[in-house]
Amino acid sequence: MTTKIILDTDPGIDDAMAILFAEANPNIELLALTTIFGNADIETGTRNALYLKERFNLQCDVVKGTDKPLYREPVGASVAVHSENGFGGIAIETPTITADPRPAFQYIIDTVKASPGDVTLVAVGPLTNLALAYNHAPEIAELIKEVVIMGGAFGTHEHTGNVTPFAEANIHDDPHSADIVFTAPWQVTIVGLDVTHEAFFSSDYIDTLRDTCGEVGQFMWDISRFYLNFYKERMGVNGCFVHDPSAIAYVIDPSLFTLRKGPVRVVCDGPAVGHTLQKYTDTKHKTDEWSDMPAQNVAIKVNDQALLDLYLDSMTSYGAE
Ligand code: RIB
Ligand code: CA
Repeated sequence: MTTKIILDTDPGIDDAMAILFAEANPNIELLALTTIFGNADIETGTRNALYLKERFNLQCDVVKGTDKPLYREPVGASVAVHSENGFGGIAIETPTITADPRPAFQYIIDTVKASPGDVTLVAVGPLTNLALAYNHAPEIAELIKEVVIMGGAFGTHEHTGNVTPFAEANIHDDPHSADIVFTAPWQVTIVGLDVTHEAFFSSDYIDTLRDTCGEVGQFMWDISRFYLNFYKERMGVNGCFVHDPSAIAYVIDPSLFTLRKGPVRVVCDGPAVGHTLQKYTDTKHKTDEWSDMPAQNVAIKVNDQALLDLYLDSMTSYGAE
């Protein structure tokens, strides 16, 4: 069965790897890329999404999202990780196509209402477009099939944060929106650092993508040079963790992941801003701002080898078309 998805994204190198994975795998129907600030500013990220659509003939819509978080001061683009142009500094031609005229939150509302029960929202950047969609039309919560997020860090396997000691980038960029999304009455599955730091694309693996996946493999290899250099300098590893493609892998094959259930909240200010917490026990407390919230899924374990095999198989078949 194919799953229809809207992919909310801040392209971004691992975002491009996730977008092409969603396009490649036959179990996903990619309806749209809705863009968000994050790895790059909104103009650059939207340009990158349009570039991918035009270059790889994606049939999805591209829709521009909001340029800033709901309340916090913007933290700025992740230039050190993804480069000034978001795609590792490779030459990107200006696309000749344009985005859908609607703002992303309105596109999400319209699309979900047109196909009730059918659409999965997958978000791999800050959650502002999703929070705006919910705030404008809370009735969409019961019309959405599932919300799948790459973001957060709950401390499993000692993975607690990547941009601060206790926060992951997508949640840190807009903690208020994340708290709205996690406490809304829809089913959210959170694929955070707990599992994305447990799956690794080695440099050799990315060489294999280049050698077996045609033009798309060469493109992923080209954009990932800058990214791998960041990982080598910052963490001393030869490759990169599998962030955004992991959210797509969950949609394709949820059995790759072990989930833990319970309400989730986000710290919205102070030194732990962006920290994500899940209450996963039945313990009663005098004061508890978790328990009345919907129980969400947090991924705490991944079959990393099967995920890597799934990614390579999908991209190899796609590259051969
Ligand atoms: O923390 C990793 C996440 O932040 C990924 O979605 C990456 O693309 C950046 O947005
Ligand atoms: Ca991303």
